[in-house]
Amino acid sequence: MATLDELKKAAGIKAANEIQDGMTVGLGTGSTAAYMVEHLAKRIKEENLNVVGVSTSWSTTLQCRKLGIPLKEMGEVSELDIVIDGADEIDKNKNLIKGRGAAHLLEKIVASMGKRYIIIADSGKKVNTLGEKFAVPLEILPNAIGVVTAKVEALGGKVSVRMGAPGKDGPVISDSGNIIADAKFAPIENPAELSKQLDGIVGLVGHGLFINMATQVILATKNGLEEF
Ligand code: A5P
Repeated sequence: MATLDELKKAAGIKAANEIQDGMTVGLGTGSTAAYMVEHLAKRIKEENLNVVGVSTSWSTTLQCRKLGIPLKEMGEVSELDIVIDGADEIDKNKNLIKGRGAAHLLEKIVASMGKRYIIIADSGKKVNTLGEKFAVPLEILPNAIGVVTAKVEALGGKVSVRMGAPGKDGPVISDSGNIIADAKFAPIENPAELSKQLDGIVGLVGHGLFINMATQVILATKNGLEEF
């Protein structure tokens, strides 16, 4: 039987094979996206492809540099041919929770530029209702931590600052210098509405609900790849 890593790799390879010569592509963050980046690097070398990436985190940037994938700065582009990324929860409408790795703000900016936004994951990420297992990751401007916490709690979320990154005391700080927290909601019956409410909180610079953004999901199951 395939291991979890083999499932993630199969989804990553399938998505990397969608990339064509001449494309500019958004490269996600996380263990599944890392398999896609690895296969893209292999294709660039073997097929001599002219492909440029836009990275969603320092983690992915360092992987790309190591593997020789040319990158553009996020701020240099406004449209991408394809964006490929992982997710923490996926519902049947392709709405997502993202941000286990604290990259959700930059991931969402890159996703918003994609003509296609492909999500790759193992089938364990599929849920009936978002919030079943995962809290909603938040990215908070440090000076706004008090007001943002109060406003998210008024919406029914139990907020905890994310602590304990290996090798660092104190809160997890994002690649943009903001505090990462998690808001645990009861299963989210109306994720579009909650997303809109979170968008309206001043000082909350990002959250991990991705609504109506993904155009395709590639799920790796024990019986092969499923797409929807
Ligand atoms: C990074 O912050 C996240 O949004 C990841 O894309 C998400 O957690 C999926 O990661 P894995 O592929 O490692 O599960």
